[in-house]
Amino acid sequence: MELFDLPGKLMDAYLIEWGSLLLRWLHLIVGIAWIGSSFYFVWLDNSLKPPVDPQLKAKGVGGELWAVHGGGFYNPQKYLVAPAHLPDELHWFKWESYSTWLSGFALVSTLYYFQASTYMVDPSVAAISPAQAVAIGLGTLAGGWVVYDLLCRLLIKRSQLLFGLIYYSFVVAVAYALTHLLSGRAAFIHVGAMIATTMSGNVFFWIIPGQKRVVAAMQRGEAPDPMDGIRAKQRSYHNNYLTLPVLFCMISNHYAFTYTHPMAWLVLAVILLAAVLIRHFFNLRHKGKVCWQFPAAAIALLAGVAVWLAPAPRVASAAAAPTLADIQPVINTRCTPCHAEKPTLMPAAPAGVLLDTPERIEAQAQRIYDQSVKLKAMPLGNITGITDAERGKIAAWFEGRQR
Ligand code: HEC
Repeated sequence: MELFDLPGKLMDAYLIEWGSLLLRWLHLIVGIAWIGSSFYFVWLDNSLKPPVDPQLKAKGVGGELWAVHGGGFYNPQKYLVAPAHLPDELHWFKWESYSTWLSGFALVSTLYYFQASTYMVDPSVAAISPAQAVAIGLGTLAGGWVVYDLLCRLLIKRSQLLFGLIYYSFVVAVAYALTHLLSGRAAFIHVGAMIATTMSGNVFFWIIPGQKRVVAAMQRGEAPDPMDGIRAKQRSYHNNYLTLPVLFCMISNHYAFTYTHPMAWLVLAVILLAAVLIRHFFNLRHKGKVCWQFPAAAIALLAGVAVWLAPAPRVASAAAAPTLADIQPVINTRCTPCHAEKPTLMPAAPAGVLLDTPERIEAQAQRIYDQSVKLKAMPLGNITGITDAERGKIAAWFEGRQR
């Protein structure tokens, strides 16, 4: 196997690990800055109260708020339209979003596009080539934006609920298609990356340019085009609701039970809906309306998924269960190329899981069973070609030990 061609491959894998570590770290930092500032402004906007001071009203202030943080008192004021004179220094919030997208794109390239045969292609899902998988991934990011942008233009005057229902159906359709083309984890990440690309696209193509036009018009002493304000409001309203769904997609890769299910698209659809309901609860709460039916519905949906995905009870078989010695050859050929002290396919044993001695196999029995039988998440991308019969053998061994 050319994968055993060392140390070139090993060095590559090691560098990919470092690239992924640094990019993921960066992506988290800037993503926190973006979503954090976005949450702050949503909360601020929803919490403003009309000013009591007539002088403020005369200045055109439509809402204000008092807050204390880190030992200081803050008094943000929002103008109904804009202040009569623009200040010399105006803070813009855009690099939080751009850097999140750039680092995210670099990360998905490192983890998925450069290792498409391992992480994107799953022969048991669809017989596609790594290049096709990458094209599907990139096409999803771009196509997702085009469809969303078109919907926004068409539905600019319609209710947000109608927009939400149509866009949600679109996302579910994408999830359905991707889970029938790519590996489960790649499908979930790409649904998240598609929504996140759309959010950054909103900031980059509409919100910031719209604000620039408003400021430029004011500097020329003209009235700004109200359409810029309407569009920016529509798009940032959407971004607000998309934050929690995106964050779920981003962490989903650590929870194989979600994306390995045969109906993973439905699992994702229900969880994303629950995320939107939770966000809605907070949006209303900032405005002083506490509507528990939304989080209650979200919890009911999540509980429903939990019950639905619960592992089936084991069927006891009368035949003598295989012993550790029977399954060791399976583990040696299918798992230890990665899970050993000196693995041949990875720079170091992934997740620190070592399966290279009988004692270590015994110690990891439950996790071996979970990953290779229950979730079928291992061997990763089934790169070592485990067969169903071998998975059955591991299952029988594990279940035999339980009795
Ligand atoms: C191509 C390399 C590769 C092979 C082969 C492989 N694994 Fe893994 N394994 C990984 C990687 C990478 C991770 C970390 C996954 C992650 O971060 O989501 C992992 C994680 C695990 C974990 C920890 C998962 C967790 O979240 O607790 C277990 C257990 C595991 N593998 C078992 C197995 C078993 C059993 C086999 C053989 C049937 C196997 N692996 C074959 C690469 C591999």
